[in-house]
Amino acid sequence: MTKSVSTLTFKEARNELTSLKTELARHDELYYNKSEPEISDWEYDQLRRRLNEIETQFPELKLRNSPSQKIGAPVSGVFSKITHKKPMLSLENAFSKEELGDFIERVQNFLNTTKNLEFCAEHKIDGLSASVFYKNGQLAYAATRGDGYVGEDVTENIMTISDIPKSIQYLGEIEIRGEVYMPIRSFKELNRQREETGEKLFANPRNAAAGSLRQLDAEVTKSRNLGFFAYYASTFEHNLGIDKQTEVMDFLQKLGFSIAGYRLCQSLDELDEYCQDTSLERPNLPYEIDGAVFKLNSLELQNRLGFVGRNPRHSIAFKFPAEEAETVILDISIGVGRTGKITPVAILDPVNLNGAMVSRATLHNFNEIERKQIAIGDTVKILRSGDVIPKIIAVTKKSGNTTFAMPSICPSCGAALVQYPELVDLYCPNHYGCSAQVVRYISYFVSKSCLDIPGLGEKQVAEFFEEGRIKTALDIFRLREKEIVSPLASKPGWGKISAQKLYDAIENSRNVSFARFIVSLGIPGVGEIVAQILADRFKNIESLQKAEKTDLVELEGLGDLMAEEIYAFFRNDVNINFIEEFKNLVTVSYQEKVIDTASKFYNKTIVFTGTLSKLSRNEAKQIAISKGAKIGSAISGKTDIVVVGKNPGSKLKKATELGIQIMPEEEFLKE
Ligand code: IVH
Repeated sequence: MTKSVSTLTFKEARNELTSLKTELARHDELYYNKSEPEISDWEYDQLRRRLNEIETQFPELKLRNSPSQKIGAPVSGVFSKITHKKPMLSLENAFSKEELGDFIERVQNFLNTTKNLEFCAEHKIDGLSASVFYKNGQLAYAATRGDGYVGEDVTENIMTISDIPKSIQYLGEIEIRGEVYMPIRSFKELNRQREETGEKLFANPRNAAAGSLRQLDAEVTKSRNLGFFAYYASTFEHNLGIDKQTEVMDFLQKLGFSIAGYRLCQSLDELDEYCQDTSLERPNLPYEIDGAVFKLNSLELQNRLGFVGRNPRHSIAFKFPAEEAETVILDISIGVGRTGKITPVAILDPVNLNGAMVSRATLHNFNEIERKQIAIGDTVKILRSGDVIPKIIAVTKKSGNTTFAMPSICPSCGAALVQYPELVDLYCPNHYGCSAQVVRYISYFVSKSCLDIPGLGEKQVAEFFEEGRIKTALDIFRLREKEIVSPLASKPGWGKISAQKLYDAIENSRNVSFARFIVSLGIPGVGEIVAQILADRFKNIESLQKAEKTDLVELEGLGDLMAEEIYAFFRNDVNINFIEEFKNLVTVSYQEKVIDTASKFYNKTIVFTGTLSKLSRNEAKQIAISKGAKIGSAISGKTDIVVVGKNPGSKLKKATELGIQIMPEEEFLKE
């Protein structure tokens, strides 16, 4: 039980502050730099609140570099930095109609008017803000907000977002700001794939968007299907002849940007109505929002109002109340994942959480159950902060039942569960004999990232398994036409056409690329990207099977642990037999990249600088790589060619000093 701050001794307060500081720093690092938060925003706020309370009670313990003094995200050292022309600030928050009323009153007082003012009402998109700068109609660079003054250069990654035009019909310098977000469908699909490959899940679409934008490989960003809603434009030469925020939105749309819509509001009641309408719309939107934003519509009045600290006076963000509810835990079920990971899930008395009925909440692992002392029958507070599966944040009423005990055997196969050192989760080690794991694996094997057999989902696989039609993943290929088509044709939920389609899909899936073949093996942590790296390096399964740990470790994108996992996988007898049989049932192909050794770029190290006008930096790199070049990021003695686009930076100067061959974009394209 946490002690009330007023009863803490000086020593206890000092110790707690030290650990809170370390804990907050760790969560900041996980949130901002790794985009993998372990706790919800709500829990984070509670830690910060506790820190503030202790510091208020014991002011002598307040440290100069206390987290309570920190604002915004630190800029990591990974990307180069871009200083914003105008700071990217944040908005003050309002949580009620009353606070919205106070806001309108403040604005009226400041402008010395009692007249009704016009506001542009917009969705508050739950993503991360980004700034995109255009020169001569071409996208020149893009940056994250960072600490508001200096952001990170994410130009290449932003270029992969289809909502962001590469060129616009406006020739002066113009900066567009908006929110990068991940559509809910893409988020669910990404987490589904990550679950299949045993990767850590993103807690919500905002974290997934942040993690996807801050990727070192722009191809990964591209694969994440991010979206962008624009809401701000600023020119630095002359104004746009536009004097209202609603006109800015129309202008942005004409330039080719997506906007999330807006509504003109003229009174407090209309602001309130917008909040209510938006909150009803929220469960059906294809993207996450966490509130509404109200902006004084007149840009001239906006300018007159100026700022208080880091917030402009002209706008406010209305934040929806946290999606929290109380309910009772009816049961705790134990799930067994594809890799044998055991996950406890709370089965709840169904409760309405902002329009959606919730009947399950994840309990993560047994440490969590122990820490929160959770028992069946307890009343709990649940929270859904954009997460797909809501989580339990606290027990609000104990039932008196004993805390749910950690199981010792697998609920599916009865094998003794194991706790591996360094891992929090429990595992069922019976990977090949545990039917829950086998069914999960077969479902994975036929899923989109593996053999891609439409018509076979987890439910159908489980049915086929229970009926004894398939015992292993490879049995899918041993199903004969007469075993599929006629029995399925009369089954509920099937029919002759879908049964025939399934048979054809299975036959089509017999031609499989080497990368997909690798993904299908289900090596923990090996998803599409790692599989492609392995396929490009080893070309065929025999070479990959023979790879030494050292060959794997040196591949970019693989860590020591993954190399170890892959190496061990290919030395397990069950896996060796599986691969042998798998090879006999499918045709595996690897499309060799043909490299023209006569190309000017063959074996050359190329560095790109400046903005390319005909293609993205990434496309240019792909072209160079396909001609046998290596890509460098900085100019050094090893650089052979520097390809120069518009507005090259210091790299061109350095290259000239070192006497390195300079190649204009046009010449690069001719090659
Ligand atoms: S306008 C001075 N409009 O909410 C900041 N922001 O604290 C002006 N956001 O940092 C921002 N939807 O990341 C604006 N329609 C919208 C928005 C929006 C989401 C985010 C943005 C900003 C934060 C406000």
